Amino acid sequence: MAKIIGAVGTSHIPAIGGAIHKGLQNEPYWQPFFGGFAPVQQWLGQEPPDVVVVFYNDHGLNFFLDKMPTFAVGAAPEYLSADEGWGIPAQPPVPGCQDLSWHLIEALTEREFDVVTCQEMLLDHAGTLPLKLLWPQGNGQGGWPVQVVPVCINTVQFPLPKPSRVYALGKAVGEAVAAWQSDKRVLFVGSGGLSHQLEGQRAGHINKRFDLQFLDSMVSNPEWATSYTNHELVELVGTQGVELLMWLAMRGALTAAGPSVREVHRNYHIPISNTATAVMALAT
Ligand code: DHB
Ligand code: FE
Repeated sequence: MAKIIGAVGTSHIPAIGGAIHKGLQNEPYWQPFFGGFAPVQQWLGQEPPDVVVVFYNDHGLNFFLDKMPTFAVGAAPEYLSADEGWGIPAQPPVPGCQDLSWHLIEALTEREFDVVTCQEMLLDHAGTLPLKLLWPQGNGQGGWPVQVVPVCINTVQFPLPKPSRVYALGKAVGEAVAAWQSDKRVLFVGSGGLSHQLEGQRAGHINKRFDLQFLDSMVSNPEWATSYTNHELVELVGTQGVELLMWLAMRGALTAAGPSVREVHRNYHIPISNTATAVMALAT
């Protein structure tokens, strides 16, 4: 059986890619953000996963407003990075894990999550930046040290899936991974959030109080945020802050490894660009 080693939640912002490209990680503006990843990288060095299931939102690259799946799962042999700009200009293709992709697609459909299957898929900053933040050196040979299975959740165009539905999707993914006939080690990643709003009169809106409560809930009360509607979440954390649904899916997936988790590390820093940033690593 596959082994679930833990989960990581992280913010994604295109400007992070630009900072990596320009080598600005130790500049005063960036250090409080990038410094938060060192303990997580160290943990992953001790507990290296083979495959990463990344819960993320596509920002208009694969799906635009004319066609918007609620849930989509990648089943490609590899995923090309094709960000919308501001990011890292060139990145190696990310290898897929088609065996796990199809296992998840079958298990999710059986559980009545009728996902869109994507045998071709491009990754934007929400898919690639977590990898670059967790493994800045890649595999040391110009590639990535892990395979990925992207699980895309619509947080871009209403109606969005309910928080409780997203948590249930995560649980179904976790249980499918736990039942996967494989000796591979699997990490879940939730990419997005925390509070931010990019447009309109409330551009720059941040809610530190809610963010910190949300981070606490990830450790000991993971269903806490499912008591909110998406409209309430948008009011609380901003139109793009609702990306915290990715963290809910990631945490739901982790429940398949047992009722309790160990917090390895967390970091919260305001702001990077318009966003309240966070990284949190949870071990099984
Ligand atoms: C920003 C944040 C995001 O989540 C995103 O997808 C794009 C931009 C920002 O704060 O600049
Ligand atoms: Fe985003």
